[in-house]
Amino acid sequence: MKKLHDRFFKQAKREGKLARSVYKLEELDRRERLLRKGDNVLDLGASPGSWLECIVEKIGPGGMACAVDLKLIHKKFKGKAHFKKMNVLEMRGDEFPEAAGGFDVVLSDMAPNTSGIKLVDQVRSLKLCEKVAELAGKMLKPGGNMVCKMLYGPETEQFRTRLAGRYAVVKIRKPCASRVESAETYIVALGFKPNGAER
Ligand SMILES: C[S@@+](CC[C@H](N)C(=O)[O-])C[C@H]1O[C@@H](n2cnc3c(N)ncnc32)[C@H](O)[C@@H]1O
Repeated sequence: MKKLHDRFFKQAKREGKLARSVYKLEELDRRERLLRKGDNVLDLGASPGSWLECIVEKIGPGGMACAVDLKLIHKKFKGKAHFKKMNVLEMRGDEFPEAAGGFDVVLSDMAPNTSGIKLVDQVRSLKLCEKVAELAGKMLKPGGNMVCKMLYGPETEQFRTRLAGRYAVVKIRKPCASRVESAETYIVALGFKPNGAER
């Protein structure tokens, strides 16, 4: 049976975090050095805001965090954090003129509404990831990094291969805080090459 209140849930409660998912980002950042002081970061699927809170802290006052979700974020953040309530699938890539020079990092922790039918959910997740990759192609600075959550399925390896032409390194990661019984994985694409072609 699924353990609802696992150690990460308890740790999040104890440390006053907005969600246990923050530990996934912390681990990815520890391993891949994604977030640096002064970065411009785009956080897609950001509510309730635990990743955003972590991002704002890591980038410091010289950085800028922009976030999007279908749902509101109620927490107010210190520092430069901009939020838009909208569907990422409808974004064109020009929604944040504040980040005129582009983003250093594009992150997506978006999860589709699940149907309970594995293949349907995998297809929905892939659609979100395709959109994140398209937006990252428009919004990332050269050398920038992209991370997107994907339900592992038959298309995952193909998606990774396609990205490999546009990034120096592409990996698939499963952080410790990601439940073992969940098919979720994170595609980590580092070193964006604006003139690279999809494979
Ligand atoms: C797992 S939660 C994100 C948790 C967040 N990273 C945090 O740490 O607080 C997934 C979010 O993706 C959002 N989402 C799913 N599909 C979306 C879409 N098409 N456009 C915008 N947000 C979306 C959901 O509303 C939900 O808030």
